[in-house]
This record gives sequence, structure tokens and C-alpha cells, in this order.
Amino acid sequence: MRILISGASGLLGLNLGLRFTAEHTSIGLVHSHPLKELPFSINIVDLNEEKNARALIDRYKPDVFIHCAALADVDVCEKDPTRARQLNAELPGWLAEECERHAVKLVHISTDAVFDGRKEGKYQEQDTPNPLGMYAQTKLEGERNVLQVNSAALVARVNFYGFSLSRKRSLAETFLHTLQNGKTMYGFTDVIFSPLYVIDLAEVLLKMVEKQLSGLYHVTSPESQSKYAFGVNIAQRFGLDQSLIQPILVTEATFLTAPRSQNLVLDPGKVQRALKMNLPNQQEGLDRFYQDYENGFAQRIYSLQ
Ligand SMILES: NC(=O)c1ccc[n+]([C@@H]2O[C@H](COP(=O)([O-])OP(=O)(O)OC[C@H]3O[C@@H](n4cnc5c(N)ncnc54)[C@H](OP(=O)(O)O)[C@@H]3O)[C@@H](O)[C@H]2O)c1
Repeated sequence: MRILISGASGLLGLNLGLRFTAEHTSIGLVHSHPLKELPFSINIVDLNEEKNARALIDRYKPDVFIHCAALADVDVCEKDPTRARQLNAELPGWLAEECERHAVKLVHISTDAVFDGRKEGKYQEQDTPNPLGMYAQTKLEGERNVLQVNSAALVARVNFYGFSLSRKRSLAETFLHTLQNGKTMYGFTDVIFSPLYVIDLAEVLLKMVEKQLSGLYHVTSPESQSKYAFGVNIAQRFGLDQSLIQPILVTEATFLTAPRSQNLVLDPGKVQRALKMNLPNQQEGLDRFYQDYENGFAQRIYSLQ
């Protein structure tokens, strides 16, 4: 398959491109981070421009378009709501129209943050979202804009961690590098989430495409933990000092700009039934993250700038 990936310099897009390249032709789109020595082709484009976005499908003629580009920093979204709305809400709608017109499969990446976190237990696809900040609000608008015009599109609400160009795009990396440097870090004990290791997520998304799934899916681990526990588990797996992680309540954290949901736990039951498989639990994801690190995968990613 020819797989076009926007946001190919981002945490998710880069890992998707690297993972898919063995069996498929990946074509990456980046904006301000041109990459070097990649095993797939990279093209620079500003997707804030509607005409650039609308020209993509005609230009690259993919079989599948996985749209990962976004303004994904929740605090920046609060400060620049206009850019957040354009990239997270309007752009997905333009892309969905073009994919529909050219009969190209669109996979649109959304977020677990669309809910307010007040539910007891896991969120299902039919639960009513109630986004708390600009990031979540604009991502929800993006989902709706996609599904309104493209019934074949797949919208995946995700949460993931892995290795990124900046070395700090995911919480797992931030814990890892902070502890490796012997520094202290806060871990929220009252924010619960169910992230997947990004390479596991890449493989699940590919299976969903191969099965021709469409519509809205929660694509997260079936197991959840607090962000503090996540940090402690990383410390233990990598043999680092877990006492450097200071437990704190998010409600006490004065250093955050955007409001955050405390229950980010999604139910992946629908995708598990569709694929007839369980998605990785927290230990399985962490083991693979650790093994990839030991095999030099993180260094490989860091060397691509
Ligand atoms: N990280 C998470 O845990 C998480 C959780 C839930 C959902 N998500 C969603 O997953 C997707 C990927 O997130 P991520 O963490 O991989 O994001 P990221 O690391 O912040 O990367 C964002 C990507 O978007 C590109 N981009 C930004 N502005 C652009 C523009 N004007 N034109 C073209 N490209 C542009 C960036 O390109 P340059 O860097 O080259 O400028 C970069 O490749 C997003 O939809 C996000 O909302 C992420």
C-alpha cells in the first residue's frame, strides 16, 4: 500500500512511517522539521493553507492517508486558539472531503481528551464528549468534521508514548531522560490513562485499515494506571531511581495552563472485538518500549534531525 502520513516529524507520524516501511511505501509530510536519512520519502508542506491540504491526494495518490499532523500541545492551543481551530478542526474536514472525492481511505487521529473525565469507569464511543480546553474542543470538532463528510473514514481516539525527535514529546521519554539525569519530576496520582506504546499503536492501526474498519474507535490499552504509576514502572523497568518521582495531585499543579481531564480511560472493547484480539496491556507495552531502547531505536530516532 502507498501510505501518506502527515505529521511525519511528530511522535506518532515518525514511528508510523518507520514501522510501515518494511512492508509498505510510506510517504511522509512535515512542516518545520525536515528529516534526514529516513527510509521513506519526506515532503515539506504547510497544512494551514487550505489549497496545500486539498492538493495532497491528487499529488501523492495514496491508498491510505493517516492524518497525524495537529497542534497537539495543549498549552499552546490555549494561547493560540485560532491556529488550534484551523489545524485541529478545519484541516481534517478539508482532508476528509478530498479523501472522499478520490476514494482514499482516511485514518484521522483524535484524542482521549475529548471527555471531561467525570465518569466513573471507562469511556465508550457512544459516551457524550465534553472537552475541557481548546485542544480537546478543536480535536472534537475535527472528528465531527471528518465523520460528517466521509463515512468511510476511520477516526481513532488514542493515547500513546514512544521515542520522538525532540526526546520529550511523550511523558515516557520525559520520565526516562529526567531520571537518567538524576533529576526529580512530578507524577500525577489523580490522572488515570491507558496509553499504548506507539509501535503497538502503529500495528493496530494497520490491522484496522486492512480490516476496512470505519467510524469512531477507541484505540488504547485495555489497562490503565495513574501518570505517577506509569513513571514508577518506567523507573523500575529501566533500573532507575523511582524515588526521584514526586507524587502530586493535578489539582495542586499551578504550572499548567490548559485544563486536563483526570479520567482519560477509554474502553477499547469495540476495536478488540472487530480485530478479535486484545490490545497490549501496560507491561507488554513497556517491555517493548524498553527492548526497542536497548536495541538502539531511540538513538536512531534522535539521529534523524
Ligand atoms: N501525544 C499523545 O499522547 C497524543 C494523545 C492523544 C492524541 N494525540 C494525537 O495524535 C496525533 C499526533 O500527535 P503527536 O504527539 O505525534 O504530535 P506532535 O509530535 O506534536 O507532531 C505534530 C506534527 O504536526 C505537524 N504540523 C504542525 N503544524 C503543521 C502545519 N501547519 N503543516 C503541516 N504539518 C504540521 C508537525 O510538523 P513539524 O514538526 O515538521 O512542524 C508534526 O509533524 C495528533 O492528532 C494528536 O492530537 C496525541
